[in-house]
Amino acid sequence: MIKNNAFVYKDNLNMESIEGFMVQQVSNDVFAIDEYGIALMYLIIGNDKALLIDTGMGLGNVKRVTEKITDLPIVVVNSHHHYDHAGGNLNFKQIFCHKNAVTWIDRENTTEYREKFFLRQEKRKEYSGCPTFYEDMKRTGSFILTPFEEGYIFDLGGRRLEVIFTPGHTDNSICLLDRENRLLFTLDTLCSTPTLVYDSYSTKLEVYYNSLLKLKKLRNTYELIFPGHYLKPIGSIYLDNMIEGVEQICSGKEKGIKWCTSESGIDGYYYRYERASIIYSLDRI
Ligand SMILES: [Fe+2]
Repeated sequence: MIKNNAFVYKDNLNMESIEGFMVQQVSNDVFAIDEYGIALMYLIIGNDKALLIDTGMGLGNVKRVTEKITDLPIVVVNSHHHYDHAGGNLNFKQIFCHKNAVTWIDRENTTEYREKFFLRQEKRKEYSGCPTFYEDMKRTGSFILTPFEEGYIFDLGGRRLEVIFTPGHTDNSICLLDRENRLLFTLDTLCSTPTLVYDSYSTKLEVYYNSLLKLKKLRNTYELIFPGHYLKPIGSIYLDNMIEGVEQICSGKEKGIKWCTSESGIDGYYYRYERASIIYSLDRI
């Protein structure tokens, strides 16, 4: 149940600032929650429960945002272990994630890791909008991780979200498919900005390619694609372009340009194929 006074339709953008997060209704009973322009989360409302996909970085308190939108119990899932998707887990008691994500999330759920993460990027201008940045950097919390595998169904009552295991960006990345409402939540598996398949957390490009083909096979089950950052939703042309782009790289026909170096010293190469772009490393081919 969506609260009557939670969301007032004001204009065509239908956006509202709640607790410092920018919230936008993006589909039927689906709300995108934007954390300081860096991370996107999605709250999907069923008849009996609501599902929060990802918890952002943990600046402010996204749990309070969800409570302002709905009275229903909230089920929380991490699309993968990255800290801009699992950093807000500390606000909740139970988190669902792919079984491969458990060790990663456990390892990164420490004060030391949290401070290191934020201090590494404290100069990002987006953070200037967060008055509690340094306070939140030190917050900790404990939560239970409940692992699942491919095919797991989140039944929200009148609405079902199905787990599609899509390793590539990480070895624990998932997408969530709402067949009835024809929505696919790809998070970092497919964004309008470059998908990162280049550091120690990523799989080989061939694995990512197979995940993309899996999404392509399901193409007649969704219309809108919701990524984990920036533009949302995106069209399925991004998926088609990414498939072709990865084919170009893997066949050796095309090569990206050296773009960045990771903390662990791995060079990332940027390659763009029409709308889709990727940063990959040579050791992932
Ligand atoms: Fe990520």
